[in-house]
Amino acid sequence: MVRIDIISVLPELIESPFNASIIKRAIEKKIIEVNFHNLKDFASNKRKQVDDYQFGGGSGMVMMIEPIKKCIDLLKSKRSYKEVIYMTPDGNMLNQQIANKLSIDGNLIILCGHYKGVDQRVRDELITMEISIGDYVLSGGELPAAVLCDSIIRLIPGVLGDETSALSDSFQDGMLAPPVYTRPANFEDLEVPKVLLSGNKAKIDEWREEKAEERTKKLRPDIFN
Ligand code: ADE
Repeated sequence: MVRIDIISVLPELIESPFNASIIKRAIEKKIIEVNFHNLKDFASNKRKQVDDYQFGGGSGMVMMIEPIKKCIDLLKSKRSYKEVIYMTPDGNMLNQQIANKLSIDGNLIILCGHYKGVDQRVRDELITMEISIGDYVLSGGELPAAVLCDSIIRLIPGVLGDETSALSDSFQDGMLAPPVYTRPANFEDLEVPKVLLSGNKAKIDEWREEKAEERTKKLRPDIFN
């Protein structure tokens, strides 16, 4: 079973996406285990302080190395981890390849940043991978961590009911997904492409490939190869 440990100063901000739908089912089926750790529980002083002023001056607080190291050390003393990930807007941009890689066996620790971020020594010494979910700044790493976990968990074998459905996702083969339709076949004269109703599997596959290519060229020429 894959285990994900999420370290945060606001664990309540991240818990709800794990209590619904596909991720909830994956947890119930014991395919994955997700644990939340409140960094404040690892603070060494009574005020439960986990951040402090920047050396050299400047606005914004910085998360201290001590509680973070204590938490990561405790987790690592119990089991091995494939990656220790830090969610940060200056990390590597998350994409389907990264999600695929992380979904293949191995436990993960995910550290959510806050305030101005973490002391650089955390990044230099404890973190093995830094991930951003896009070129914009959110108030903390919790929502990005939830996005990352969702992208990984749905790929773990057994999580999605239909085993083939993750393979036909957009980006999985460097291509956007083709359009999809469902009943009714004719809605106020808006008709479903005839080929999809033909029952001819080869023709349908060919049509889907053609449409995927068309869509990718038009909408994402940067990923078309
Ligand atoms: N923390 C704040 N903004 C973020 C982003 N865009 N990606 C990852 N972590 C973040």
